[in-house]
Amino acid sequence: MTADPAARPLPALFPYGGDYCPEQWPAEVRAADLDALQDIGVNTVTLGVFLWSSLHPAPGVYDFSLLDEILEPVLARGMQIVLATPTGAHPAWMARTADVTRVDFEGRRHLFGARHNSCPSSATFRAESAEIAGLLAQRYHDLPGLVAWHIGNEFGGMCYCESCAAGFRRWLQEKYGTLEELNRRWYTLFWGHTMHSFEDIVPPSALSEHWNGPAYTAFQIITLDYRRFQSEALRECFRLEKQAIRRHSPDVPVTANLMGFFPGIDYRRWADDLDIVSWDNYPRIGHGPGRVALAHELMKGLAPDRPMWLMEQTPSQTAWRPDNPLQEPGLLRLRTWQAIAHGAEATLYFQMRASRGASEKFHGAILNHAARTDTRVVREVAQIGAEVRAAAQLRGSRTEHRAAVCVDWDSWWSLEMSDGPTRRVPYVDEITRIHQDLFDRGIGVDVLSPDADLTGYDLILAPVLFVTGPERAANLERAVAAGADLVTGFLSGRVDEDDQAPTLDVPGHLAPLCGIRVDETDSQPEGVDREIRWADGTTCRADTVFDLVTPVDAEPLADYGSGFYAGTAAVTRRDTGAGRVFYVGARLDEAGLRTLWDQVLGTAEDRAPGLERVRRRTEDAEVLFLLAHDGAHRVVLDGASTDLLTGDSFPAGAVLSLCAPEVRVLRRPLDGAPA
Ligand code: GAL
Repeated sequence: MTADPAARPLPALFPYGGDYCPEQWPAEVRAADLDALQDIGVNTVTLGVFLWSSLHPAPGVYDFSLLDEILEPVLARGMQIVLATPTGAHPAWMARTADVTRVDFEGRRHLFGARHNSCPSSATFRAESAEIAGLLAQRYHDLPGLVAWHIGNEFGGMCYCESCAAGFRRWLQEKYGTLEELNRRWYTLFWGHTMHSFEDIVPPSALSEHWNGPAYTAFQIITLDYRRFQSEALRECFRLEKQAIRRHSPDVPVTANLMGFFPGIDYRRWADDLDIVSWDNYPRIGHGPGRVALAHELMKGLAPDRPMWLMEQTPSQTAWRPDNPLQEPGLLRLRTWQAIAHGAEATLYFQMRASRGASEKFHGAILNHAARTDTRVVREVAQIGAEVRAAAQLRGSRTEHRAAVCVDWDSWWSLEMSDGPTRRVPYVDEITRIHQDLFDRGIGVDVLSPDADLTGYDLILAPVLFVTGPERAANLERAVAAGADLVTGFLSGRVDEDDQAPTLDVPGHLAPLCGIRVDETDSQPEGVDREIRWADGTTCRADTVFDLVTPVDAEPLADYGSGFYAGTAAVTRRDTGAGRVFYVGARLDEAGLRTLWDQVLGTAEDRAPGLERVRRRTEDAEVLFLLAHDGAHRVVLDGASTDLLTGDSFPAGAVLSLCAPEVRVLRRPLDGAPA
């Protein structure tokens, strides 16, 4: 048997379907549901996500009969299976063991209830979860149709208990070696915080460094390290389960459903452990397709050489928000194909059939409470089900993006808990905002760590890169020396990885690369803005944060037109002889960002807001995805193409009309390849 999951044959069918909880239904309902689901194209179900209390009803007692029973009709129908370990919710009896439930930020030990309520450092939880994962793998490793193991559910959440405190101290000892080193790098002379023993260190919570919630702290570095530690503690839980599975099931890929831009875990540090990067896409109201595209690329970029799966999205609506809008006709199809455009090799939904009770009884599902098959949702799911078969030929295809966006969890964490310069720049929102105009121009991006090898890109976007030590700055410098244009700006280079401000001009280690220095940064409340004057005479507005930029080895592109610092540079460009470095010192409005991108890209053309274009390459074809998210569009084809969804063929120069929400997937054979 091979031990390399990447060497395993791909699932026979492009996985389509998703979370199914047949344990909530009697046998005859299960059979009818599965028949209905199969009829509309569902070929894959995720089973067992929350079954722990049935599988392990008492200490030392295991009972697989319910799982056997619900697997039986699925197997009888030859469906593909994603088998979950049930560790996203521990059994009630286990919660009575002293160390299992979490202690929250306020120091309260939780009782049994909800889910995701297990302490990631708990010896009991770790042992029990590895045990159940191993037993499942032992029993079901050769299940026909098993396409992936799914560990836990949406790992996340923080714990502040004694086990975590002890684990944190061990983690710190390993990281810093000595207390002297820890005191130095934690800057503990401030407010008399010297630690005299590792035992002095307690988790940073409402009872210690914090006030006004997790974002307000007297000591950022302790919290930064605690977040890093908790991310690792959760990863260790994942790894223990994976190891237990591997003992019996060496070649079935293992994954965990991640959550895109999720602040709780530094997913980059998890990437090596995931055979498939899978994630759950529930865009919030106001989060447009540009942000979703970034999230897909963030997930894909964790492990570009491994498959990415869309593990969950709602086929209809969510239930856990104050408002739960329906997806208008065609939107589910568009979102599904957007995932595939960004590399998804499976598109799965939560959930197959609506629960009758508890908090998700009004959550959208393919089959509603009445299990009707003549609903709009079922019709749309069926249409997509027929279409996604075509996606199988795209597996392993690649994008060839010339631009990269840097995303860094340390910067996210550190920026959002920083006292000053401002608390009104949410990290991901700002990246999304700056990226939007590139998106509107159809410029695809990879989303990578600022520490990844970035040489070879034409354009690197590294906004609000708050944490930048010398090595990170050198990495960006290498990419610029190799010819990349870099766009960075305010709230970048402010601290090093120990959350200390460098004893350098702002933006710290990035200052020489940007060719500027910033002596002062103004931050103003909501409603206050400043005029920005571009060299060509156009103006725009900026708000929230304003660096007073002194060009050292750079030229000003725009200056402030108002405020006491009117006439001071706000945006600069340094020509290095290889790439150029743009420093954007103020939070520009949309018009300003458009001007910025016109200057960086040297063109004002090619903007088509509302129409996303993604190109993927297979071995013998280029596939162009046209995703109309908003408005009406006309696109002239640059080569003879076939629409993979309709089978229609178009000659080069054909003009296609699209009206949102609409999608076309156009395959154009590479030269010499058969049509
Ligand atoms: C996900 C979760 C699922 C389900 C879904 C509802 O976050 O993994 O179990 O609760 O949300 O939207």
